[in-house]
Formats: sequence, structure tokens, C-alpha cells
Amino acid sequence: MELVRTREELTTARAGLTGTVGVVMTMGALHAGHEALLRAAREQADHVLVTIFVNPLQFGPTEDFDRYPRTLDADLEVCRRAGADVVFAPERDEMYPDGEPRVRVDPGRLGGELEGQSRPGFFHGVLTVVLKLFQLTRPDLAFFGEKDYQQLTLVRRMARDLDVPVRVVGVPTVREPDGLALSSRNRYLSPEERAAALSLSAALRAGAEAAEQGRDAGAVLAAAHGAFGAGTPGARLDYLVLTDPDLEPGPVSGPARLLVAAWVGTTRLIDNMPIRLAPRS
Ligand code: PAF
Repeated sequence: MELVRTREELTTARAGLTGTVGVVMTMGALHAGHEALLRAAREQADHVLVTIFVNPLQFGPTEDFDRYPRTLDADLEVCRRAGADVVFAPERDEMYPDGEPRVRVDPGRLGGELEGQSRPGFFHGVLTVVLKLFQLTRPDLAFFGEKDYQQLTLVRRMARDLDVPVRVVGVPTVREPDGLALSSRNRYLSPEERAAALSLSAALRAGAEAAEQGRDAGAVLAAAHGAFGAGTPGARLDYLVLTDPDLEPGPVSGPARLLVAAWVGTTRLIDNMPIRLAPRS
């Protein structure tokens, strides 16, 4: 496995990869959720290229950019074990040599909703760095976790709308045995906060169960809200919504997505689940 830190080194390493290349973009602090992305990439592409970069553009002024976990040595070990071929881990100046880019990708209407409503500018920052990394790594396939479902949806949309020649592959969320979705930010949680964080997955499970029982959208949301409120106190709900699988507005039936975001202490967590609603009669 080769570690490259500059664009020039990346270009040389990329030129040596013959066959299909799958990219896994990360901000480091790798966990079993990232390992699932790496496994999928290993299975579906001839070569795996991992990027590790804590992108300042996607953090708001009061967010956790400074304290975001940076664990490069451990991350490289995870990549090595997973059979990655190349890891690109640039410094900030390497990614943004002219300082903050003046031109950014506009994520459109969806970029201002859900996560975008609570975190203004977040998806401009995400899509801008993802597009730059697409240009630099030129992958055939790109693997993104369903855990960040709105991000996955917008990256797919960007690839389609801007003709980026890449196949975007969504990989299901990895959960702890008690249901907590894996996230690099889970390491901020105290034991009490971790218990409260289970409210998110409990809400989604309750909603999914209600859907399986053939209940309508209103009852599914009510079940989810009920389970959120019945959890260990300490989680403060931001949103709990039911949408179609492309996060388009409007009433849904058939395949749908239930999404939740909440604050636990100073940590903001998100989660989501696919559900299937009975057709409306
Ligand atoms: O999901 C993440 O870790 C980040 O948003 C990404 C896609 C690596 C862009 O910085």
C-alpha cells in the first residue's frame, strides 16, 4: 500500500493502477462503517484508493473542525488490512493551494434542507471537496455510506447533473449490536450520552415496524416520535422526517426513507433507515 501526500505523488500512483479504481473518501477516524466501504470497494473494483482529509470547507464556524479526531497511523493500518492500494492524505494547502475556493458546487434545493438547514454551507463544502477528489483520483466507482444518506443522494445527483463519469455506490449502515449507527463522532459521547443516542435508532426501528404492519405515513411518523421520546432522556430532536428514496418532497408510498437528526450533549448525530409503506388506497 502506498501513502501519497501530494497531487504529484497521487498522479503517479494513479497512473500505475490498471483496471477499475474504486475510491473511498473519508475524513479519517476510520471505524467498521468505513471498513464496510473498503470491503465493497475491494469486491467491486480492481484497485482501492482511499482519501483521508478533514475538509475545513464543510465545518461551520462553531462546529468541531479543531477537535475532529485525527488518527492517521491507525487509519493507515485499517486501510492496509482492508487491502487498499493507495491512500491519499493531503494537507490543507495541498487541497486548497489558493486558500478557500471562491467557486463552490451549489447543491441546489436539497442542499438547504434537513442537514443543510441546520448546517448552512455544509453541502457546498462536501460537494466541492468530493468533486475535487473525483478530478484528482479519477475513479470508476465511488463508495459512500448510507449513514450519510443526504450526502449520498447529493453526490449521486452531482455526478448525474455535472456528468462526472463515476458510478456512485451506496453501502448500508453498520450498527453496534444495540442499534447505534457507527460514526466517527460517537467517540465524543459519554456513557450517559451514548445511552441517550439510542433514541435515534429506536425511533427508526419503531417507524420501520409500523410500516411493516401496513400502517400509513402518519402512523409511522407517530410511532417513530413515540419511540424517540420514550428513550433515555438527553437527546434533543432536530428533525424526524419521512421522504421518498430520493429525498424529494411530497406524500410517499412504497419505498421510502425515514431520517432523524438529534443533539446529544454537544454532539449532533444523524441516522436513517429504508422503509416500505403500503400503497395508498
Ligand atoms: O462523509 C465524509 O466523511 C465526508 O463528508 C467526505 C465525503 C469524505 C467529504 O469530506
